[in-house]
Amino acid sequence: GDKKTLFSGMQATGTLTLGNYLGALKNWVVLEEEYDCFYCVVDLHSITVRQDPAQLRKRARDLLMLYIAAGINPEKNCLYYQSHVSAHAELSWILNCFTYMGELNRMTQFKDKSEKHSDNINAGLFTYPVLMAADILLFQSDVVPVGADQKQHLEITRDIAQRFNGIYGDVFTIPEPYFGKAGARVMSLQEPTKKMSKSDENPNAGILLTDKPDVIIKKFKRAVTDSDNQVIYSEDKPGIRNLMDIYMAITGSSAAEVEKEFENSGYGDFKVAVGESVISVLKPLQDRFDDLSKNKDYIDGIIKTNAEKANYAAGKTLRKVQRKVGF
Ligand code: ADP
Ligand code: NA
Repeated sequence: GDKKTLFSGMQATGTLTLGNYLGALKNWVVLEEEYDCFYCVVDLHSITVRQDPAQLRKRARDLLMLYIAAGINPEKNCLYYQSHVSAHAELSWILNCFTYMGELNRMTQFKDKSEKHSDNINAGLFTYPVLMAADILLFQSDVVPVGADQKQHLEITRDIAQRFNGIYGDVFTIPEPYFGKAGARVMSLQEPTKKMSKSDENPNAGILLTDKPDVIIKKFKRAVTDSDNQVIYSEDKPGIRNLMDIYMAITGSSAAEVEKEFENSGYGDFKVAVGESVISVLKPLQDRFDDLSKNKDYIDGIIKTNAEKANYAAGKTLRKVQRKVGF
């Protein structure tokens, strides 16, 4: 159609957190009217870090079901597995030959990840951004919603695309970062200066989208704060500020309104209120997720239909690229 194309995805490396929801998923839901959206279950990238096969398979399926449970309509948006579209790997190889070692050497995420996984610094970890470039460019994506940690990867994608177009003519659409309504940046409940992440090893650091109400309340009660016991929005109070950000993202209140609402409460009551607000959005999501989990044939159908759709769109770009380079 004449709609612009939007591409995004998440790795199947853990259960999605409240950070993934408030920072990304919640905002994806409203984009379908304006864009043709491709949302990928990024399983090829996931194996740059060693994964247990059965666990990866389960997480990938849960991820796709969580996309749907969060409100992304699988009939209107293309929700598919990266590994079901071989064009990702094929284009990635070609783009490897148009990417310089020096460019990849400058990627800060590679440096961070190779420190974290120093026993397995594999070539896939190094060329991770090239596969990401292939993901985006295959669909001639106009826009890509990116978090701060992915900005550098979008830049290299643009550089590779421009280099390729410079040699072969206009093959790729040059993608722009998508700056929609800013999603909340959610921090770890245990180390509030660090972002909440699905790959955090501390089980109390993140609220998982599948956490039951009692677990959610317990995790918020244990959240690291300060000893001042006043609900005030301040740079010096990262723990409380994070809880306020979460509450604000869910209720739509401003910081001043939250301060007013809790001016006569201590942290204990405030933490429970934050937990209740989170439960109010996650409970319906979890009910939908449970229904989807029971409906195997429906999900299998979605996966198959969307893989066909994605293969069709990706194949068009791949064939063009293959002709250009002389295959
Ligand atoms: P994670 O660190 O949880 O593995 P990813 O790097 O896979 O997350 O990011 C998936 C999406 O979720 C991206 O769009 C990213 O910007 C968003 N995201 C991840 N963590 C957070 C967070 N703590 N707060 C807000 N958005 C987040
Ligand atoms: Na397009």
